[in-house]
Amino acid sequence: MNVVILAAGQGKRMRSELPKVLHRLGGRPLLAHVLETARELKAGKICVVYGHGGEIVREALDGPDVIWVRQEPQLGTGHAVLQTLTFLDPDAPTLVLYGDVPLIGTPTLTRLLDAAGDGLGVLTAVFDDPSGYGRILRDADGRVQRIVEHRDASEDERAVCEINTGFMAAPTAALKRWLPSLGNDNAQGEYYLTDIVRLAIGEGLPVATTQPEANWEVLGVNSKVQLAELERVHQRNNALLLMESGVTLADPGRIDVRGELDCGRDVTIDVNCVFEGRVALGDGVEVGANCVLKNAVVGAGSRIAPFSHIESAEVGPRCAIGPYARLRPGTKLGEDVHIGNFVEVKNSTVAERSKANHLAYVGDASVGKDVNIGAGTITCNYDGASKHRTVIEDDVFIGSDTQLVAPVTVGRGATLGAGTTLTQDAPSDKLTITRVKQLTVPGWKRPQKKK
Ligand code: UD1
Ligand code: CA
Repeated sequence: MNVVILAAGQGKRMRSELPKVLHRLGGRPLLAHVLETARELKAGKICVVYGHGGEIVREALDGPDVIWVRQEPQLGTGHAVLQTLTFLDPDAPTLVLYGDVPLIGTPTLTRLLDAAGDGLGVLTAVFDDPSGYGRILRDADGRVQRIVEHRDASEDERAVCEINTGFMAAPTAALKRWLPSLGNDNAQGEYYLTDIVRLAIGEGLPVATTQPEANWEVLGVNSKVQLAELERVHQRNNALLLMESGVTLADPGRIDVRGELDCGRDVTIDVNCVFEGRVALGDGVEVGANCVLKNAVVGAGSRIAPFSHIESAEVGPRCAIGPYARLRPGTKLGEDVHIGNFVEVKNSTVAERSKANHLAYVGDASVGKDVNIGAGTITCNYDGASKHRTVIEDDVFIGSDTQLVAPVTVGRGATLGAGTTLTQDAPSDKLTITRVKQLTVPGWKRPQKKK
């Protein structure tokens, strides 16, 4: 089939510089959701109608399979679809989708296409409050006669609760006859796509209707309030899918997935976690409350304690991370690594069984296995101009409050005494310490306040 996505509207009510269809739902632009749906449907042609000032829409979402058609000026939905006709395969039906209606499901659309057959298919819904929408007018036998827009409708017509969702499937050859003949003699002076219903009936072509599985599928985004409402629906759907695949969620109402979250078996996620980009959690991973994970991989059996932040990092299996740990881009942890509270790791590898349990900064470092990094240890990786690497070999013990002034290497099995400021390489298997000798001053008296 051909898919036409209407996305030329301005979206004034968003009150934003950003074109409406680039506002994000689940971390991705609204239009990206609709493009994904078109691809899931295996559309032969995907045409996006975009508007004035919308070049950034095109730049943001361009792809080899997308045909961009600029509509300028915007004279209505019928006029919008008209602009695409020369790009469509005339022998396949055309499905009309909307760039600002992101949650439409492929099962619903497949049903609409099936219902349409060789005729016209209209997706309708029954709303408690139909105001603003086009109404579906039927004859005494229940056959669709036409669609009347809210602003053109009489009082009686406005009482109808069956609305036009906007989604339609039509024979492309028929669209080529109908669309150029549309008039704009209506309350908005626009060329209405909805008028093709009347034209189809005039030609004796069947008009079928079908309904979405859920009404939220057809809700559009016109304001930040509606965007937030659909975000909740989307997150709820994500949460249900996760639970159906075996993930334990402490509260399905308190998880946000802004991208793709891939979970192994028996994964547990506590409340208020945010997952961005692509995140993969291995079997048995536990994520504590209030964690943020972005483009991260966590190995099987690892536990991420509350308030940890992980970005573009790889955590090996059976690690213990946090609470309050920060793993920054380029971090790669081996098996059974412990990164504790207020420890920051950046662009570093840490091999198996090594630990930095408290208050440390490990940046641009290669840390071997079975290393113990004491509290308050810092790699001084930056000299104000360039970054330098620190190498800590296997079995090293680093005492608390140590500064490793990079570039520097700590040899295998070395021990650094607490408080050391290491500016030269530390030899293997030896104690290296830079510490002012302790002194006790005899006869010293603390000054007293005068009374
Ligand atoms: C349209 C339908 C109405 C339906 C409602 C569902 C028509 C005439 N009316 O009304 O029956 O109940 O959707 O939400 O179709 N667009 C363009 N170019 C244009 C005009 C619109 O690309 O020239 C796009 C908009 O960006 C938007 C969509 O088409 O995504 C719908 O346009 P809008 O003006 O919001 O139509 P409604 O008045 O809501
Ligand atoms: Ca609208």
